[in-house]
Amino acid sequence: MEIVAYGVLADEEPLLREAFDKAFADRHELRCLGLFLDRDTVPTALGHEVVISGVNDTLDAEVLRALADGGTRMIAQRSTGYNNIDLGAAQEHGLSVARVSSYSPYSVAEFAWTLALAVDRRIVRAVQRTREFDFRLDGLMGRDLRGRTAGVVGTGKIGAAFARIAHGFGMRLLGWDIAENPDCLALGMEYVSQRRLFAEADLVSLHVPLLPDTHHLVDAEALAVMKDDALLINSSRGGLVDTDALLQALRAGRLRGVGLDVYEEEAGVFFLDKSLEVMTDERLARLMTFGNVLVTSHQAYFTRDAVGQIAETTVTNIEDHFAGRTSDNTLVRPVTA
Ligand SMILES: NC(=O)c1ccc[n+]([C@@H]2O[C@H](COP(=O)([O-])OP(=O)(O)OC[C@H]3O[C@@H](n4cnc5c(N)ncnc54)[C@H](O)[C@@H]3O)[C@@H](O)[C@H]2O)c1
Repeated sequence: MEIVAYGVLADEEPLLREAFDKAFADRHELRCLGLFLDRDTVPTALGHEVVISGVNDTLDAEVLRALADGGTRMIAQRSTGYNNIDLGAAQEHGLSVARVSSYSPYSVAEFAWTLALAVDRRIVRAVQRTREFDFRLDGLMGRDLRGRTAGVVGTGKIGAAFARIAHGFGMRLLGWDIAENPDCLALGMEYVSQRRLFAEADLVSLHVPLLPDTHHLVDAEALAVMKDDALLINSSRGGLVDTDALLQALRAGRLRGVGLDVYEEEAGVFFLDKSLEVMTDERLARLMTFGNVLVTSHQAYFTRDAVGQIAETTVTNIEDHFAGRTSDNTLVRPVTA
């Protein structure tokens, strides 16, 4: 049987193939497509029982109905987040859904720190200058992290890994979550209200999932209480930040810097080469104009270790589907289970 995977990146394909071949050898074939699954591309899934999706595929009710009508029975999402899949519609159409509930949290936590340090120490501007043989330091002054306050919003696997690194820097730790993490408490983290965290942190890093409760968690009100020289890092999901409110704060000269690995409207833009097109997303274009904002293209998870683990777990989820098993990764159970 042929299994089709959407939005597969060049560096990812060998790892996905390696995991697939180890499990399925000659039994099934893998077809890797660079295009994203959406209303326009869904006909390419026709006749495929299993479809492998990713964060920037759009699996809304219409796409899921078309998949079910075309013979698909299982969606194997190769990420932790699944806000791109309408789970209710999947259930309604008899499609089972599984995700990768955990993989190296270090990939994302270490990247969040990469962004934080690059923004604070003005690394991109510094390198652009030295390339031009301009060796001045004007405008490049950063800050010591030791003794400053890190605010960790969401202290699950990634938030805790981020907090451990902050602890290593000698930072004071504030946390917010619906549940306290004993590992973070052991690091000396103090759990406080969101408002207090936003008000006291020199660096706010977001690690909660995107849910109706967390949508626009960083809004005009949250930004208003943040320190004028705070850093904001979002390596979780774009919808956690109200981009219009963020632009307003930046235009007013507030915040020392912002690092975004995710963006509210990233689907259809991130992972693609848009360099020869007119950028029609005014807000994304405006974000790029601020010297203290760094935007990366949802690459925090993109280490060899994490992508290899994601590939292996995705293949295990597909094996479970064929064996009629469910697991902690199951989001929508198969109709027969
Ligand atoms: N940029 C990337 O490449 C990338 C990669 C992986 C994950 N992520 C994002 O990071 C997020 C965190 O991942 P994780 O592995 O640490 O997840 P996790 O489940 O281990 O941690 C999430 C934390 O959020 C907390 N939380 C706060 N409010 C919540 C609410 N209303 N409902 C549910 N939980 C709530 C949970 O209690 C938990 O501690 C993911 O949801 C995903 O959006 C981004």
